[in-house]
Amino acid sequence: MNAPALAPAAAFSALMDSHRSVRSYKPDPLPEGLVDRVLAQALQGTSSSGNLNLVSVVKTQDPARKERLFELHGEQPMVREAPLVLSFCADSFRTREWLARRGARPGFADLVSWHTAAFDAMILAQTAALAFESHGLGICYMGTTLFAMRGLADFLELPDNVLPVTSLVVGWPADAPPQRDRLPAAAWIHDERYQRPGGDDIDRHFAERERRGRARYMESSPEMAALWTEHGIGSLAQFYTSPIKYCPDLFAGFSADIEALLTERGWRRPPV
Ligand SMILES: Cc1cc2nc3c(=O)[nH]c(=O)nc-3n(C[C@H](O)[C@H](O)[C@H](O)COP(=O)(O)O)c2cc1C
Repeated sequence: MNAPALAPAAAFSALMDSHRSVRSYKPDPLPEGLVDRVLAQALQGTSSSGNLNLVSVVKTQDPARKERLFELHGEQPMVREAPLVLSFCADSFRTREWLARRGARPGFADLVSWHTAAFDAMILAQTAALAFESHGLGICYMGTTLFAMRGLADFLELPDNVLPVTSLVVGWPADAPPQRDRLPAAAWIHDERYQRPGGDDIDRHFAERERRGRARYMESSPEMAALWTEHGIGSLAQFYTSPIKYCPDLFAGFSADIEALLTERGWRRPPV
């Protein structure tokens, strides 16, 4: 007998509870037509700034092309393993072409439009992620999209005013990762006005994260423990901005690349 259907709120709550980023995939293909159906429904089911739909999604399933994405995404194995990689793009090219064909004043080629399009692409990605998860599929975001923006734009043949902002790998999970912690509600939900945390609040809010992080990185991985010692890292906080995690110098370089790319690819045009 089938389990009784859950009411929508309970079903959505269960879906969120079951979220894990999946980093190991079976080679099995995805059901025919499911991807396009999920994406079309995700766009319909996601708010869209001005209803401009300033987004595009490029599907990559060809193993040879996925191999190039694997390189561009820092050789994260799941890009190779998962049958599908989705590159979510901020896109005002199509809209600008439409404006031109109708003799309208050109627009949507400035920083505000970039922001609008990029955030529309991100929220679309998250709706699609939940939808894929509702079918029992696994997903993982690829933050490397930002670092490889130029290479991805060239490889995916994106015209001006189209840049990738995030990617999802999608496939059938080959493992069942444990749930990852989040900061407690008291750390980030504020009543009426921002409640600036004091030192004791910071200690309390990060205590569990520090305990779990240390267990995950140090106690379960001798290689990582050796790297912490090599780099003189004594805490999870020090790890985060060390050269082996989110190094501020590297981020400064990537930030400069992205700024230059936005100008090159048409997102900083003066009004015409
Ligand atoms: C924008 C974004 C980029 C991410 N990039 C990566 C990535 O490049 N590689 C990876 O393994 N996980 C990536 N993740 C997944 C996060 O590491 C993961 O969501 C976080 O550790 C919490 O784990 P959970 O999703 O299993 O709850 C990314 C997540 C987001 C939202």
